[in-house]
Amino acid sequence: MINEEIKEKIVLALDVETIEEAKELVEEMKDYTGTFKVGLQLFMGYGLEIVNYILSKNANFFLDVKLHDIPNTVKKASENIVLRGANFFNIHCTGGLEMMKSAREGADNKAKELNKKPPVILGVTMLTSISKDVMNNEFGIDKDVSKFALELAKLAKEAGLDGVVASAVEVENIKKELGKEFKVLCPGIRPKWSLKDDQKRIATPSEAIKRGADYIVLGRAVTKAQNRIEAMKMIYKEIEEELCLQH
Ligand code: C5P
Repeated sequence: MINEEIKEKIVLALDVETIEEAKELVEEMKDYTGTFKVGLQLFMGYGLEIVNYILSKNANFFLDVKLHDIPNTVKKASENIVLRGANFFNIHCTGGLEMMKSAREGADNKAKELNKKPPVILGVTMLTSISKDVMNNEFGIDKDVSKFALELAKLAKEAGLDGVVASAVEVENIKKELGKEFKVLCPGIRPKWSLKDDQKRIATPSEAIKRGADYIVLGRAVTKAQNRIEAMKMIYKEIEEELCLQH
């Protein structure tokens, strides 16, 4: 029996080269995965083919293309994202309050029109690839990256977004500042037995959930595992044991 409470938190990143690999992953992982995340690479390559495949398996679809444009364009794009069936999508908080409000408005209006649940919209505060040096010297913003990220998260809440993407290290602070209901999705998840790859600020699945993560992104820890189902089962087991969750 699958633990539905855990399944709902699991977002699997479909970071693969081909549509065949992506479909194989969805087929193999659908019983263990609440949401499949389609990023720029796969979406630019195969667009709606993979989206429709995910939806045909009754899984949630997360469009991870991080919108950033003028408010009207983002509003119209958000309407179409909902039309295409996305249950989650994300936008850059640096697009500003008005842009984020427009995304919310476009998505909610379209969801209402289609009689669907509004999608979860998550804000991307600062990309993890942006260092203090880049922020201070290239952007001319004389601030600490994590403080700036928190300011952007506050703005995202004000705009009506559901939450933000953040490292597990930041979850507790975000929840403290913005409340329990404000959702946090954490990438950089690595079980103890897996490789770190290029991720720096990592946490195990159970650590991230204990700190308050609403969703955890699983990527290479599962997709590059020798036995992917076994890897997923080990992750479930770790979470169940550490959090004492019963089936
Ligand atoms: O394979 P791995 O677990 O590192 O994959 C992490 C996923 O989360 C990738 O799809 C990556 O784009 C995404 N992500 C991230 N760090 C962020 C935001 C998103 O790793 N700050």
